Formats: sequence, structure tokens, C-alpha cells
Amino acid sequence: MTFKNEKVLEFYEQLPFNIYGDLKSAEEQIKKFDPIKIYPELGKIFSEYEKIKIIDFGCGGGWLVNSISYHHGDKAEVTGVDFNPVVIKYANELKDKLKLNAKFISSDLFTFKSEIKYDLIISLGVLHHTNNCHEAIKSICREGKKNSFMFLGLYHKYGRKPFLEYFKEMNNKSEGYKFEKYKKLHKNIKDEKKLYSWFRDQVLHPHETQHTFEEISQVLIEEKYNIQSCSLNKFKKIENLEEIFLKEKEQYQYSLNKIKNCEYFPGFFITIAKKE
Ligand SMILES: C[S@@+](CC[C@H](N)C(=O)[O-])C[C@H]1O[C@@H](n2cnc3c(N)ncnc32)[C@H](O)[C@@H]1O
Repeated sequence: MTFKNEKVLEFYEQLPFNIYGDLKSAEEQIKKFDPIKIYPELGKIFSEYEKIKIIDFGCGGGWLVNSISYHHGDKAEVTGVDFNPVVIKYANELKDKLKLNAKFISSDLFTFKSEIKYDLIISLGVLHHTNNCHEAIKSICREGKKNSFMFLGLYHKYGRKPFLEYFKEMNNKSEGYKFEKYKKLHKNIKDEKKLYSWFRDQVLHPHETQHTFEEISQVLIEEKYNIQSCSLNKFKKIENLEEIFLKEKEQYQYSLNKIKNCEYFPGFFITIAKKE
């Protein structure tokens, strides 16, 4: 059974997410940014291993896979999977330019099968673009070893709402108008091509769903994962899951204030879990 969304594949084949500029500038970006500066929690996971096997589902142009491989290649063996052959080709070209030992596989995550089991499964901004996010989580969970980690990023039901409502009000406006509004939210990104790719992904996407931490925790727990931490409380130790289930509702107001202040907040959250 497959839950992949054909419209989503077409959307990304036309213009892949976050691929802009030439290979040279992508190479420089990778050299400049150690991904654990962006995601310190990944660094904490890496520190538990001497050697770590990582897989990134929906890796896109491979910025994360290639960055991990470039900065942590001595301990990390990284594989990226994406159903869009266009991004796999690009990610491979970048990998070859940087002479990395990362691996990229063109596959639908629902039908992906591997002999190898992994220590860390990553999927950022992907599973909410499939026809069944819960089944997608279950599919990628199967690739984890005993005691492996899951690093999962999804759109949040409450945190995402004000952003979606903001752009829904512009339904009768042109794409150009919406893009101008989107640009105003992003004070730090100046590259027009990068901005357009992000805008397209977050505002013009043909299919996305939103999720709560409560719901995602339940799916992970059913798959025999223990919840470790989440971005909703800045990755602090979770004493009681119920507290976060209550607290996550505050994301709506937080996100609303952001939009009112013309600040970027797309409503995204990360859950970290560990397989029993
Ligand atoms: C928003 S992009 C995120 C890319 C990357 N994870 C990042 O953070 O930059 C979503 C990616 O998921 C991929 N994707 C969506 N559905 C998929 C599926 N069923 N199997 C494999 N890849 C999928 C798309 O091709 C796209 O590259």
C-alpha cells in the first residue's frame, strides 16, 4: 500500500524545495554551516555514538545529509531518501563535488526497504505532505534499530493556523502580492530565489496536514518509541507529557502575535523519541 501524493511529487519535480543558486554556492554553504549549530539536539545524539548510521527521509537537495557528512563524516554514515529524482541527482552532484561518502536513494518512503537498520532517523518537513502522516511515521519507524533515535519535524496544528489564515485572507490576490507579503515576514533571508522556494513550499503547496504533539506522541508510543523531548518546550526534559499536551495549545496565540508583529513563524515543531 502506498500513501505517496502524486501531486506533491509533481510540485517538487517542477521546482525542488530549497535549491537555489549554483553548486558552488551550495558547496560553500555546506562548508560554512555545521548542522549541529542549527540543531544542537542532533549534536547531543551524535555524542552518544562512536559511529552512527543516519537516514534522512525526504532529504530534498541533501543539504542536511551532505552537511552532516562534511562536518561529522568521521563518525556519521549518512543516507538520504527522496522520491524526487531531480533532488537526488542534485544531492549526488553536491556530494561528489565535496568528495563525501554520503549516499542518496531515490525512493518513496512508504515502499523503501533496507537491509540496514539505523541509529538515527531524521525527517524534517516531509511527512505532512503525504496522504497519511501516521502511516508515514510508522513506515520510517521500521528502519530504526533498538535504542535508535527519531528526529521528526512537522507542521503544528495550533502553531501553523495563524500563518495559514494570514495567507488565506489573500486568496483573491495574485501570487506576486502574496510573495511580497511573505518576503516582509523574512527579515534575514535576502536571496530572492531561496525566498521564492520557501514561499512556494509554505504558501502554495498542493497538500499539507498539521499535527499536534499529543497525536504524534501517541503514534510513536504505539511504535514502541519513548518520547525524549520536543521543540515546544525548547527541548527541556519532559517530566509529564500531559503538561506539553496542554501547553502546545498556546502555540496558536504565540504564532498569532508573530504574524501581528510581521515576524516569520511557519508553525513547525520537532519531536525526538527513542526506540525501546
Ligand atoms: C519541504 S521538502 C523538505 C526537504 C528537506 N527535508 C529539508 O528540510 O530541506 C519535502 C521533501 O519531501 C519529499 N517527499 C515528499 N513525499 C515523499 C515520499 N512519499 N517519499 C519520499 N520523499 C517524499 C519531497 O520530494 C521533498 O523533497
